[in-house]
Amino acid sequence: MGELGGRNALVTGGSRGIGRAVALRLAAEGALVAVHYGGNTAAAAETVAQIAEAGGRAFAVQARFGESGAVDRLFKELTAGLADHGTDGLDILVNNAGIHSATSIGQLTEEEFERLLAINVSTPIFVVQRALPLLRDGGRIVNMGSAATRIANPLQIGYTVTKAALAALGPSLANELGRRGITVNTVEPGVVLTDMIAHYAEVPEAVADSSPSPPSAGSASRRTSQTWWASSRARRAAG
Ligand SMILES: NC(=O)c1ccc[n+]([C@@H]2O[C@H](COP(=O)([O-])OP(=O)(O)OC[C@H]3O[C@@H](n4cnc5c(N)ncnc54)[C@H](OP(=O)(O)O)[C@@H]3O)[C@@H](O)[C@H]2O)c1
Repeated sequence: MGELGGRNALVTGGSRGIGRAVALRLAAEGALVAVHYGGNTAAAAETVAQIAEAGGRAFAVQARFGESGAVDRLFKELTAGLADHGTDGLDILVNNAGIHSATSIGQLTEEEFERLLAINVSTPIFVVQRALPLLRDGGRIVNMGSAATRIANPLQIGYTVTKAALAALGPSLANELGRRGITVNTVEPGVVLTDMIAHYAEVPEAVADSSPSPPSAGSASRRTSQTWWASSRARRAAG
């Protein structure tokens, strides 16, 4: 059994892209993984199947963030899935699901920004709130931020602001939860070639400040870094 044997994990947006890579890695280390998705049932089933083929354990949970009652639905499906696997409680929460938008300040609409805030900020906050009674002492919370907050790229300003807000959650939450040994960290990837940025990455100015050859979500360097924070070695890394 791997380092995470006996642990239960929830990866929001675990059906595709970076979330899928995280889910595969956590499962490879022995965790039972709840693979959350919004609407792409086939992608979630594929992630669960890949985990099972590799000898791991996973199940899919569906909830469309941004819709009324989505967080309730997520936790209803999560607790049912854990019970089906003869367990309960949570050890690792990865708030990964998110949406992108590629607009400058002059193009950003209120509607677009409200949707970005709802999915990239409000939802992870209330997912954490709902997860806390389930999270065992020594647990891990990881929020998926973005290096966009440190690159000063005007072409995704609404997205960048939401990722900065999400990152701001980390230190205060880590302070509160540290007494229970629960760490809170924000991972801030640079450009990763996923469905999210397939079109955006074709804009030269958009990726000019990023890696000359953006890696895919499952590349070797990412596989080693993606789940370090879930290990026992990361118990003093928080905030
Ligand atoms: N790709 C990059 O270059 C990059 C860089 C820095 C940070 N990030 C961040 O990393 C995270 C994952 O990005 P990615 O590139 O892997 O994205 P992706 O390939 O587009 O995958 C997005 C995931 O989030 C889920 N999702 C999206 N909208 C949702 C909604 N309204 N309700 C529920 N689930 C929803 C999707 O579910 P379905 O499969 O059901 O649609 C999917 O599992 C995001 O938070 C993103 O901001 C990405």
